[in-house]
Amino acid sequence: MSQAAHGREGIVAGEYLLTADDFTRIAALLHDHAGIHLAETKAALVYARLAKRIRALGLENFRDYCSYVARSDSADERQQMVAALTTNVTRFFREGHHFEHLKTRVLPRLLDHARAGGEVRIWSAGCSNGQEPYTIALVILSLMPDVARHDVKILATDIDPNMIEEARAGQYGESALTDLPKDMRNRWFRKIPGAGAPNWRIADEAREIVAFRELNLFARWPMRRRFDIVFCRNVVIYFEKARQAELWQRFSDILKPQGHLYIGHSERVSGQAAQHFAADGITTWRHTGRAGQ
Ligand SMILES: C[S@@+](CC[C@H](N)C(=O)[O-])C[C@H]1O[C@@H](n2cnc3c(N)ncnc32)[C@H](O)[C@@H]1O
Repeated sequence: MSQAAHGREGIVAGEYLLTADDFTRIAALLHDHAGIHLAETKAALVYARLAKRIRALGLENFRDYCSYVARSDSADERQQMVAALTTNVTRFFREGHHFEHLKTRVLPRLLDHARAGGEVRIWSAGCSNGQEPYTIALVILSLMPDVARHDVKILATDIDPNMIEEARAGQYGESALTDLPKDMRNRWFRKIPGAGAPNWRIADEAREIVAFRELNLFARWPMRRRFDIVFCRNVVIYFEKARQAELWQRFSDILKPQGHLYIGHSERVSGQAAQHFAADGITTWRHTGRAGQ
């Protein structure tokens, strides 16, 4: 059988046909746009998530969808495609040891600096629906209830516009709140009367110190100031090694000397960036020790 014939065989068949060629085109688009590596074992997931888009656009099959999404005037659909294929799993206080470390070892010095009139800047890169940056905000509020009077700000970004919209709303269902310490939950969340889920709203004090923006990590970063702390956790695992190395280098450039980078438990800073971090006194935290250990 010729390669071309093989490429047009269905690898997932349902309401629409997804062929190996279609999968290759979708994987290439996702890689070019968002740096995400898609293994062919994910064909069923691609089918399940994109069949909805094909239906919404009134197209006949994945082949037509691939042509549509590759068109130069389809930037919005490319964004929808990326949003449909990314994993947005997150939790308040996910990898809780990071927040204990932040609270006891990193923030005290930085918040003293803020009390003395200095600025503190934190970036949650790949923030999903906001639970990571809001957790940071709650930890800050536990140490500095009058944070609004100081120059302490969290930037929270994600490639997925749907996540940014949810994050800005700051409303979560009951199940999202289960990992929150009771006192924090009582103090910083309000039940919205009469609302269906998600019906718990985070307090304005937390919302006011977080700015949410849509940002593809592989696009130009518009931020002019450097950060004291970057959280980029459970994001780079979806990128191939060369793309990861590119990002580590960019994080090293955008962190202040003596800054801190928190990464997910299965992630590791690779390439030359590790030396640059060390030279600038930037520490990367994966477990509770240095990431490189
Ligand atoms: C698994 S979530 C992690 C959320 C949070 N950091 C945490 O650990 O709970 C990964 C997030 O990265 C975002 N993401 C994936 N590729 C991205 C890219 N190229 N630029 C920015 N965000 C991206 C996804 O949209 C998703 O919300």
